Amino acid sequence: MIHNLEDFIRLDKLKNKNALYLEDKYMNELAIEITNLKKEKNAVILAHNYQIGDVQDVADFVGDSLGLSQQAAQTDASLIIFCGVHFMAETASIISPDKKVLIPDLQAGCSLADTINVEQLIEWKNDNPGAVVVSYVNTTAAVKAESDYCCTSSNAVKIIEAIPKDKKVLFLPDRFLGQYAKAMTGRNIEIWDGACHVHEKMGEVSFSDARLAHPNADFLIHPECGCSTACMLKSQVYSDCKNVKIFSTEGMINHVKKSDNKEFVVATEVGILHRLKKINSEAEFFAMSDKSVCEYMKMITLKNLYDSLLYEQYEVKVPEDIALRAKLPIDRMLSVF
Ligand code: 13P
Ligand code: SF4
Repeated sequence: MIHNLEDFIRLDKLKNKNALYLEDKYMNELAIEITNLKKEKNAVILAHNYQIGDVQDVADFVGDSLGLSQQAAQTDASLIIFCGVHFMAETASIISPDKKVLIPDLQAGCSLADTINVEQLIEWKNDNPGAVVVSYVNTTAAVKAESDYCCTSSNAVKIIEAIPKDKKVLFLPDRFLGQYAKAMTGRNIEIWDGACHVHEKMGEVSFSDARLAHPNADFLIHPECGCSTACMLKSQVYSDCKNVKIFSTEGMINHVKKSDNKEFVVATEVGILHRLKKINSEAEFFAMSDKSVCEYMKMITLKNLYDSLLYEQYEVKVPEDIALRAKLPIDRMLSVF
């Protein structure tokens, strides 16, 4: 019986503690079930750096788009559970057509991949005969099938450098990554006007305020960010920007592994903070913007990952003719490394 307000608050706190305890218990049990089921089914769980912490913790491999494609190509497992977004699972299926690739939620799409479709690409190619098409991996399989090379944020510059110098390049779909690659290579590149809704907004965050608040921090910036081109150009021009680094998500991880710095400001999707904190628990990590959350990446949960393993749902299979043509630019990308 509740006698007074104090009792009520005490009981409420107890109830909340209990609820949290039960939730933790449920999550731990789910994680154990997932690990058991994974062994039983000879499955491998691949998770992108933006996945929620619970999903990253049960994965066999956590990485960026390039690392995940490489893992999909190398694994002996017959079943791949792809904890990421749809185009990434499509890429895994194209690379490993004999394996079953599952995604726990089919709605996990990508706003950037949606900025160009295959008809638009064909029209662009017709307007630029002889040009070489470089597609960022954040594209549908059909768009990849009409491309010459694929690239990720970690290898865009290297891929463009591997193309003969006299060739015009059509780069798609991310305009910020395109501008970054153009500035780094000095090549004749026409850029598609696409952007990711999460990274584009980073351009609205005051970079100067962040630098004032964290004068000693390293600034790790994803090249898809709306501020990346400006930051990259500044970092080359102004010495006060020397601690600005433009990295893919895995590039950020590698930098933190090697760095002695104890403070980092991270400009990309906030899911990566979980992995960064695990790598270096002594350093402090700050999100450039707490609002940098990709709702598509967050559609994957421990519960739907468990269901995906149990019921072998939802298979991502690219039609054979498209898969064959899309494999060529992906293979070319993988062979550059
Ligand atoms: P990475 O290739 O750096 O992992 O980036 C993928 C992505 O979707 C960024 O938004
Ligand atoms: Fe796509 Fe942007 Fe989400 Fe990356 S963060 S998966 S580019 S919507």
